Amino acid sequence: MEHNDLANEIRNKVDIVDVIGERIPLVKKGRNFFGVCPFHDDTNPSMSVSREKQIFRCFSCGTSGNVFTFLMNYEHKEFKEVLQELGSQVGISVSNIKVPKRASKYDNLYNAYQLTCKYFQNNLVSPYGKAARIYLDERGLKDDIIKEFEIGLSLPQRNDLTLLLQSKNYDLSQLNDIGLSAGSNDSYSDRIMFPLYDPYGKIVGFSGRIYKESNQSKYVNTKDTVLFKKGDCLYHYHKAVDEARVSKSIIIMEGFMDVIRAYSIGVKNTVALMGTAFTDSQSRLIKRLSKNIILCLDGDPPGRHAALKIGEKLLEDGIEAKVITIPNNDDPDSYIIKMGKEKFLSLIDTAIPFGDYKISALKENVNFKSDEDLALYIQNVIQEVVKINDEIRAEIILKKLAKDYNIGYNTLEKRFRQLQQNQQEKISPIKIEDKLPKKPRKSKYIIAIEQVIYYMLNHEEVIEKVEEEKMIFPSNEARILTNEIIYFYRNHRYIDIASFYTYLQDKPDLLQYLNEIVSSNYKEDWNEDDLYAYFKVIEDYRLSQEIKRLEKLMKEESDCLEQAKIAEQIRKLRLGEKKTWLEKLKH
Ligand code: GTP
Ligand code: MN
Repeated sequence: MEHNDLANEIRNKVDIVDVIGERIPLVKKGRNFFGVCPFHDDTNPSMSVSREKQIFRCFSCGTSGNVFTFLMNYEHKEFKEVLQELGSQVGISVSNIKVPKRASKYDNLYNAYQLTCKYFQNNLVSPYGKAARIYLDERGLKDDIIKEFEIGLSLPQRNDLTLLLQSKNYDLSQLNDIGLSAGSNDSYSDRIMFPLYDPYGKIVGFSGRIYKESNQSKYVNTKDTVLFKKGDCLYHYHKAVDEARVSKSIIIMEGFMDVIRAYSIGVKNTVALMGTAFTDSQSRLIKRLSKNIILCLDGDPPGRHAALKIGEKLLEDGIEAKVITIPNNDDPDSYIIKMGKEKFLSLIDTAIPFGDYKISALKENVNFKSDEDLALYIQNVIQEVVKINDEIRAEIILKKLAKDYNIGYNTLEKRFRQLQQNQQEKISPIKIEDKLPKKPRKSKYIIAIEQVIYYMLNHEEVIEKVEEEKMIFPSNEARILTNEIIYFYRNHRYIDIASFYTYLQDKPDLLQYLNEIVSSNYKEDWNEDDLYAYFKVIEDYRLSQEIKRLEKLMKEESDCLEQAKIAEQIRKLRLGEKKTWLEKLKH
């Protein structure tokens, strides 16, 4: 069976409202269900899910799609995986179906990294790799781990990789762009190479570590490229996705050696930050894995400082993480080596809520003999309690505070209510939408084009009108998309948006355009008057563009006879090729 048919058969047996509702709370309002969109930072229910149409769309960030698209984005899965999972739920086997791999314009670049990775791995097992192998062995990295993490070695020659890739038809400027070469040399020389992956598990860069005495920096990372942004990267994310689901938690560490070490003792639900500040996009990625986030950063002062910063950021983003404190300035890697697996596992169990961690951190440098210091400390603690936003814990903490410092509970509670009030006043006027980049206003003809396309997606009669009137859309993407709609309709004799999403599966550019239209709140009910009015806007625009093009051509033309011919064409266009449907318009 063709994969589209099978997909639609499966889709007909599940209800998008159930599938999304299992993952995100949905509330019914009118004909649709609403929830907080998981694909952008939000606290408002701006995502709507339609049972009738079997699609979801977010009017705030502009994501939309059918049940497959939702699961692929939400769970970071390939189409085929999602198909298999949903299929097995409804008793349809998807075992040996061939789904065409999505062709990406970056395939060539991914291949370069893949090839490079294999090359580095070969170097490590070559005679030259002996010293590096000894280094890895001394750090306790066994062969299976080296293989699992695809660790390799760059050679000291300086241009061997560049030559290899050139022999595979990559040119120097391309290799420079993707960070594998610098000028005509390799970017890495004589380092142990760790591939870096995107959230889907594709290699998009490397980090190289020195392994001999050297005054060079310990690690060198691939520079930022089209495929790799250091600030978006979380090491080991692609594997942590599944592990986090099983263990219902995700552990954040600082370095990738920490992650690799933890993995080697079976703790696999981990990611590493790779020495960057914690960014918005990392926060978003993490939150998708689990709401139970555990910070397990280095035990030294910078590590503790990082825990405070990251915990604070996550709290702002709506999640109170838990924090593990590693004793004696160790990092997870060195702690595990010294203390062993069992000790580390019990350490994970000692994780405390970020609020409590912050409050105990506030104690540092407070002179409790000074009334002023004490008052300030208590003020700060109450401020934190407000942020935690949990009345029960607030009471527990305030009671403890009252007891420890012999202050009346009511006094503390009164201050707590005051600060809570202030905070609410501060927060409420700022709508999350304000933080989103404003969408540029669309011009009249773009609105007309998109509205017509939206009509086409909802009403077969409109598709027929578009065909009948031989509408020509004056933009490439609109022309291609409408052709696809017409093609789909001719083959199936119906149109529905949910099936159309699956049909466009392998065309990411068109999908994006479809997204844009579906999530833009266009009118659904149509009538002929409106439709022809939109046709006219589109047609006028197309003619004006065509005239502009011809005028330019005429200016560039030196031959008088040719010029005259073009002038005649322009004159005809100005008069208007009498389209019969124009007469249908009531002026
Ligand atoms: P090892 O010393 O090999 O155990 O590494 P580590 O994981 O303990 O690294 P460390 O805690 O020193 O740093 C945490 C992370 O910051 C590392 O995993 C790297 O990603 C990054 N980092 C550390 N040193 C450097 C450096 O010199 N340059 C760059 N670009 N990144 C670094
Ligand atoms: Mn380390």
